[in-house]
Amino acid sequence: MSNPEVFPIPEHVADNANIDLASYEALYRLSIDDPEGFWKEEAKSIDWIQPFKIVKETNFNPVNPTIRWFADGTLNASVNCIDRHLTAKANKPAIYWQGDAPQESRTVTWGELADQINRFANVLKDLGVQKGDVVTIYLPVIPEVIVAMMACVRIGAIHSVVFSGFSAEALANRINDAGAKILITADEGRRGGRVVPLKRNADAAVEHQPTITDVVVIRRTGASVPFTMGRDHWFDELITQANPWCEPAVIGAEDPLFILYTSGSTGKPKGLVHTTGGYLVHTGTSWRNIFNWHEGDVFWCTADVGWVTAHTYKIYGPLLNGATSVLFEGIPTWPDTSRWWSIIEQYKVNIFYTAPTAIRSLMREGEAPVRQHDLSSLRILGSVGEPINPEAWHWYHRVVGGGRCPIVDTYWQTETGAVLLVPLPGAIPNKPGYAAKPYFGIRPVLTNSQGTVLEGQAEGNMCFADSWPAQARTILHDHERFVRTYFSQFPGYFFTGDGASRDHEGYYRISGRVDDVINVSGHRLGTVELESAISSHPAVAEAAVVGYPHEIKGQGVFAFVTLKATVEENEALRHEIVNLVRSRIGPIASPDQIQWAPALPKNRAGKILRRILTRVAANEFENFGDTSTVADPAVIDEIVRRRRQSSHHTVAL
Ligand code: WTA
Repeated sequence: MSNPEVFPIPEHVADNANIDLASYEALYRLSIDDPEGFWKEEAKSIDWIQPFKIVKETNFNPVNPTIRWFADGTLNASVNCIDRHLTAKANKPAIYWQGDAPQESRTVTWGELADQINRFANVLKDLGVQKGDVVTIYLPVIPEVIVAMMACVRIGAIHSVVFSGFSAEALANRINDAGAKILITADEGRRGGRVVPLKRNADAAVEHQPTITDVVVIRRTGASVPFTMGRDHWFDELITQANPWCEPAVIGAEDPLFILYTSGSTGKPKGLVHTTGGYLVHTGTSWRNIFNWHEGDVFWCTADVGWVTAHTYKIYGPLLNGATSVLFEGIPTWPDTSRWWSIIEQYKVNIFYTAPTAIRSLMREGEAPVRQHDLSSLRILGSVGEPINPEAWHWYHRVVGGGRCPIVDTYWQTETGAVLLVPLPGAIPNKPGYAAKPYFGIRPVLTNSQGTVLEGQAEGNMCFADSWPAQARTILHDHERFVRTYFSQFPGYFFTGDGASRDHEGYYRISGRVDDVINVSGHRLGTVELESAISSHPAVAEAAVVGYPHEIKGQGVFAFVTLKATVEENEALRHEIVNLVRSRIGPIASPDQIQWAPALPKNRAGKILRRILTRVAANEFENFGDTSTVADPAVIDEIVRRRRQSSHHTVAL
């Protein structure tokens, strides 16, 4: 990708930029030369109970890193997200909720949100929830998800939101790991006209689960669902009886705010722990800058509440700024492929933030569904979750944005809590596919595999020197894994697990994961997690999973499966394996292709050579690199032969 086209900053953005080029350069310099001074100013965006004296105590020591921000300050997240907006905005809309079905919608004001949050915080207290307890939230995209999260943080409880597309088993694992006391769910969810049996999954998850004492159920569809007396409670009944004021708890800046699980390169999902003060400072200020938000703007982020994108830039970012946003429960293609565009028109959305995979799938529908709607309210577009390919970038820019909206390609992770690289829209001209430049206080570094820092134009491992306030502090119950994964590989730096390049103008472009994680439709999946799900099928001897290029999803899941010697290869088995993965993890993890492999290529120590499998899955049959370590080269020949054959008649699963 040499010399991509550069898109200058449009006048309408330059004219009212929160951050223009001069201020970006000056503030960036300040944030690097004097991070304490810079972040102390940014922290004024938050109402503190006890103001902090110490800004930053951090080092990236490879065996014992320290990450503490504003540690002696105290605050309450829900006061910052809700209470402080009430004087000016009690009767103004906080949320435009749009249900899965077009006729279902609700406007929720700041005052209504506050009332529900206070009441529900009291409900949680009555159920015995105390500061530091974990509450698991398994909900669709409905306003009550915000009520639940904010009620938790009002009393110092830690929310752990689990994506409602995860299976009962995946939910149970996350509840167990966190030791959650309370589970909040709904009778059912709705997506694309279909029902998601949330209560049923929740029941299955907590059936033999020792820590959950109570399940709070939100009536979303009104369906009749099984109800366990004594354990289950209806949300609406509890909150009508609850006291409408709950005194906000005094929370230390370094007290946990939430846990969020994500996949890593081992089988066990990791619960990243985020703390309160630094996260709120970085999230609130960066949201405003990234999206060039101004009072009155309507913001819409399409991410599901189960992911970090929604935590930071759909929920906390807008709430901290008192911004109005759209929450949409459904999918972009139901009842028809212009659904998103009709929502943008209806609510006059000014700022729209989505993922490349969605853009690619809507691009396939052509321009007509977009052209049916007036999208002239749009001013800023955003992209997140995976590298955006130039073709999708151009379509998004030209067709959706009418050529007038900059695209903020925001690079960050569950671990980083908030943005690291971004072309701030009033300051940095766009280059398609480039997440561009460091956000304030962020010091990007590229290293080669030996750990040498690369200068100038280069390609390497995406690392960061020095901490930022929203950074995760640990992995729940596994600090050693936290240190090993992020800090030990390249001593002195935080390693993201991504590869990247930097061009002659200092623009960064992320190329994707370099570890055993694949990014499917912007969702992170650990290959080991997938392999252990597949291997749990009684007919399977062994499995190896790799990502391969997929037109819509970015990466698809390709599974090489060795069956037990006594088992015949057959189609029914393929479907059983897919169903097993769906029930153990969730539909997002379904293998796109399964190839039977009589044996897997291994080195003499028995380690599977994924490098080779990745190339075969991508239909690249040459340049396998050094194959001298392969124990039995005939194994590769057979895998290649079968792949060549199946490429001609790909089995869609
Ligand atoms: C990828 C999502 C390229 C990357 C916020 C990262 C991206 C992983 C971008 C984190 C981007 C995220 N360009 N790649 N703008 N944003 N990624 O934890 O591989 O769900 O490591 O956080 O997504 O995914 P996560």
